[in-house]
Order: sequence, then structure tokens, then C-alpha cells
Amino acid sequence: MSVRKIALPSISFIVARSYPDYVIGCENQLPWHLKSDLKNFKELTQKKAVIMGRKTFDSIGRPLPNRKNIVLTRNTEGLPNTVEAVTNVEAAFFAADFFSILNDQKEFFVIGGDQIYKLFRKFCNRVYLTEVFAPDVVGDAYFDFEYDGRQWRTISETEYSKSEDDDYPFRITELERRMQNVRILDIDQFYTDISPKVDFLSEMQKEQFKKKLKSREVVQAEDDAPQTEMFASRECA
Ligand SMILES: NC(=O)c1ccc[n+]([C@@H]2O[C@H](COP(=O)([O-])OP(=O)(O)OC[C@H]3O[C@@H](n4cnc5c(N)ncnc54)[C@H](OP(=O)(O)O)[C@@H]3O)[C@@H](O)[C@H]2O)c1
Repeated sequence: MSVRKIALPSISFIVARSYPDYVIGCENQLPWHLKSDLKNFKELTQKKAVIMGRKTFDSIGRPLPNRKNIVLTRNTEGLPNTVEAVTNVEAAFFAADFFSILNDQKEFFVIGGDQIYKLFRKFCNRVYLTEVFAPDVVGDAYFDFEYDGRQWRTISETEYSKSEDDDYPFRITELERRMQNVRILDIDQFYTDISPKVDFLSEMQKEQFKKKLKSREVVQAEDDAPQTEMFASRECA
């Protein structure tokens, strides 16, 4: 016997840190100017949902265009209504899942900073890691996760030299978790859970959303099906 399940979008990190000290920020700013890295960031995150902390949002200073900006904060006052302000991790997941399903995106991004990477670290399946060869950089925000080759495989590595555009040489490595965190949910349960939260949709949009859910359907034998937890994770870092 089979039950109707959907696979939820996958979670990716994108982060730039100094080598060897793993600094990502100083006084709520990036400690370098790397135009080529920002270009890569822009390309990878286009049209996707991006989750960030309120301090990172403040440091960027405006919503990132052509992306769904989801900002985690404990106090939603003062944030523009062009971003989706959420007060907990579950609400951030919901906003990112909903946007990704509606827009046929298979992944969404966590874009920092320090506190927010820590919150989502165990759910992440893919990391776009920029290592900036800047031993002189000091800071107050860090990303100190070590990628163990037994758990993560390297997909690609690209080296960049110091140039007019880029303050330091750097390398971008794409890493993929060997045993992916697969988030699988009962399709009807997911729709029932979210329908009160999507009252703003017209009936036509709701029908469209249901179709999108169905297109993500995966079939699982009842015996193999994970229980009711949100995360059918096979491995957590
Ligand atoms: N190099 C990179 O790739 C990169 C990327 C991103 C950011 N950065 C840098 O990282 C630094 C910012 O990092 P950060 O750790 O200081 O701040 P952050 O992670 O960007 O944001 C922290 C804020 O998120 C909210 N928050 C945290 N946990 C929460 C929870 N469980 N529920 C609801 N809200 C929660 C709180 O906002 P409220 O205070 O509003 O409640 C908290 O002050 C900056 O220097 C920035 O430039 C670097």
C-alpha cells in the first residue's frame, strides 16, 4: 500500500568566510569587497527564497531584488512590508517552502549571518562556500563549520585571483551532503496545515497551488514511510 507524500524543497547555504579565521563579518558589514563573489551570489539566488537574520538584512539595507526575502526577527516592527518578517524557524520554513512550491523552485537559500547559519545548519544539503584568503581580517561574526569529507562531497572548486574587482584571492567550493536531509510530508496534511495561512489566495490560486503540490508527489511504500515528523532526516551534522 502507498501513501501520498510530497518532497519539500532542499536547503542550501551560501557564505563567504576568511581563511584561516572563518570571519564572515565585522560591525555588521562584510570585511571585504569581492565583486566577483557578489555576482556569483546574485546568479545563484535569483528567483529563489532567501532566509536571513535581521542584522544581515540591516547590513544589506534593502530587500534583494528578484528574490523572496524572508527575515528572521523577534520584533517585526520597523521592517518594510516588501520583506516577509518571521519570528521563528518554523515560520521561515513555511514561507520558503510555500514560495518555492508556488514558483517551481527545488531549493531555497539561507544567506546568514552567524546566528542564522547556526539555526539552519543541520538541515542544509548544499553549501556554496567562498573562502577568502585574508589572514589579516578581524571580525565579530563567524562561520566555523568544518566540512568533513566523509559527510560532504565536493562538486566544484573555482579559484579567483586578487584583482581590481576583488580585494583578496578567494575560492568558491560547492559542497553537497552525501546523505541528504529529505523532508517528506503527507500531501493532504501539508495542505490542511497551510490552508488557513494562505487565505489571501484566490480560489484559482489555491487550485494552482494544489496542482504544484501534486507535481512534487513522491510515492512511498507505507512500511518505508517516515513517521509524522517534519524532517525525515537520514543524517544531521
Ligand atoms: N560573509 C558572509 O557570507 C555573510 C553573510 C551574511 C551575513 N554576514 C555578516 O554576518 C553579520 C551578521 O550576523 P549576526 O549573527 O550578527 O546576525 P544575523 O544572524 O544576521 O541576525 C541575527 C538576528 O536574527 C534574529 N534572530 C536570531 N535568531 C532568531 C530566532 N530563533 N527567532 C527569531 N529571530 C531570530 C534576531 O533579530 P532581532 O534582533 O531583530 O530580534 C537577531 O538579532 C554581519 O557582519 C554580516 O555582514 C556575512
